[in-house]
Amino acid sequence: MEPSGVQVKKAARFDSLPMIRFFGHILTSLGSKVLIALSGLGLAGFVVFHMLGNLQVFEGQDALNAYAAFLRDMPMALWSARVALLAIVGLHIGLSVRLAIQNRRARPAGYVVHHYRRASLASRTMALTGSLLVLFIVFHLVHLTAGWLDPEFHNRVDLRGQRDVFGNIVHAFQNPLLVAIYLAGQAVLGLHLSHALSSSLQTLGLEHPMLDRLFRGAGPLVALLVVVGNVAIILAIAFGLVHA
Ligand code: HEM
Repeated sequence: MEPSGVQVKKAARFDSLPMIRFFGHILTSLGSKVLIALSGLGLAGFVVFHMLGNLQVFEGQDALNAYAAFLRDMPMALWSARVALLAIVGLHIGLSVRLAIQNRRARPAGYVVHHYRRASLASRTMALTGSLLVLFIVFHLVHLTAGWLDPEFHNRVDLRGQRDVFGNIVHAFQNPLLVAIYLAGQAVLGLHLSHALSSSLQTLGLEHPMLDRLFRGAGPLVALLVVVGNVAIILAIAFGLVHA
């Protein structure tokens, strides 16, 4: 049945509302991709800063504990950042899952032969590495933020009365099982980040022919730096180069 003139006018009026147009745009595949890219870049920024902050383990107990205390001494800023981070993670995962489902539905039936020649391992395993990364982050929060694995150790303070985050990390990576879990987490993070960063830059239209190689290399390079930084912390403690 043809829509009446009144119905068309009503629909047009709704479409002209900025909020409706905004959400309508998000619901399109392109809008989702842009938001996935932007939220992904935000999360990558967090991971880089987190790694740089954690490198203070190499400066010793006072430096790392003072840094952790500095962050915790600003509860408003800390909780705003946490809520923002959680919202970005939720948006990133929600839109990624929806886009993956849409892409799967749009794929022609009977598509059995996989043409993976040009696709890298990282790009083919984004859903898997993304899911494993969520598991790793949940484990990491339970372990080092909430301290539920070792509550007695988690609440210790250093000689200055500051939370002993340094002692906590050193204690953790003296345990081979935790070392293995964290190293596996870094492998997953590296794979996910290396493809995600390059493809985010592409999605945002930053892929200029002149800069193409640079952007394609940027993802793997940043991922490598983050993984090397984190693995250095884990192994330096595991092999006793950094100790309490
Ligand atoms: C060697 C690697 C890592 C170390 C040593 C480490 C260490 C820590 C520590 C000590 C905390 C708690 C800070 C505090 O309570 O004051 C923390 C929190 C956190 N970490 Fe990590 N981390 C590592 C890797 C990662 C990775 C790879 C991610 C993400 C993919 C990540 C995400 C987080 C998040 C989201 C928090 C919660 C921040 C908050 O308390 O508000 N971490 N990390």
